[in-house]
Amino acid sequence: MTDGQTDWRAGGLGLAIDGSVATVTLGRPERRNAMTPEVWHGLAQIGSSLPPQVRVVVVRGQGPSFCAGIDLSLLAGAGEPIPPSDNPDLLQRIASYQAGYLWLRNSEIVSIAAVQGHAIGAGFQLALACDLRILTEDAKLCMKEPALGLVPDLTGTKPLVDIVGLPRAIELCLTARTVNAAEAMLLRLAELVVPVDELDAAVADLVAALLATDAAAARATKGLLQHATGHSLAEQAAEEQRAQGELLRSRRAAGAAFVPRPGSP
Ligand code: ACO
Repeated sequence: MTDGQTDWRAGGLGLAIDGSVATVTLGRPERRNAMTPEVWHGLAQIGSSLPPQVRVVVVRGQGPSFCAGIDLSLLAGAGEPIPPSDNPDLLQRIASYQAGYLWLRNSEIVSIAAVQGHAIGAGFQLALACDLRILTEDAKLCMKEPALGLVPDLTGTKPLVDIVGLPRAIELCLTARTVNAAEAMLLRLAELVVPVDELDAAVADLVAALLATDAAAARATKGLLQHATGHSLAEQAAEEQRAQGELLRSRRAAGAAFVPRPGSP
């Protein structure tokens, strides 16, 4: 794959890698980037084969919507047949779809969802799977699954509760109401809200700022932060000691400076 060029895969899923930045594009704008099993499998495949130099992953959608969720034709019985609910194949099937989302939290990378227009159901969960979200002013988020007789099962429930808290998560999911960009900002579902035509520039600015930080320190710090919620203060303090020791030791072993100069890779 040539640097920076988008490699298109099944389901209209695109991947471009440019140095330390991978851009994943949902590319079925004529269907508002509705997702099929091919897309979920494709996302998992991207996650498992990401080159080690990638530090930032941007997830975006083509056209007016980030993603309209599951392709509704699947709910009407198209595509892979759904095994009966007591069949272990069903759980494996869902796990294989979830694999398309879970890697976006790996501590080796920082993932950014660039969300314009609608992010519904599986699409909202994809935005939630990312570490950070930049929304445009026309963004609309909706956890539609319960309204369609389903539960959100693409890893979105935990980040939703972590971000907005349990009462608000219950209210949002069980009413399946739409959250606009202004409310998303208040609920901390967006790190930033920008005008539609400024989305690419805002993402580029954030990517540049993330890449300006020392790579090893960034990875170790993300790992630390991710585990903070589940730790007591004493446990987390011990984790900080361990992480700092490991970081400095590996830097010394590589013959590098004790603390790298700002901007060095
Ligand atoms: N699955 C399949 N096709 C879709 C989907 C979808 N999820 N969403 C949109 N499309 C298709 C439409 O049928 C339409 O096709 P057509 O041109 O052949 O008529 C085309 O994409 C454009 O859609 P419009 O509705 O015309 O676009 P608009 O911008 O007005 O609205 C919106 C966008 C709000 C996303 C609307 O299409 C919508 O509500 N889609 C369904 C969303 C949904 O319920 N998703 C399931 C969530 S639950 C889950 O993901 C598990």
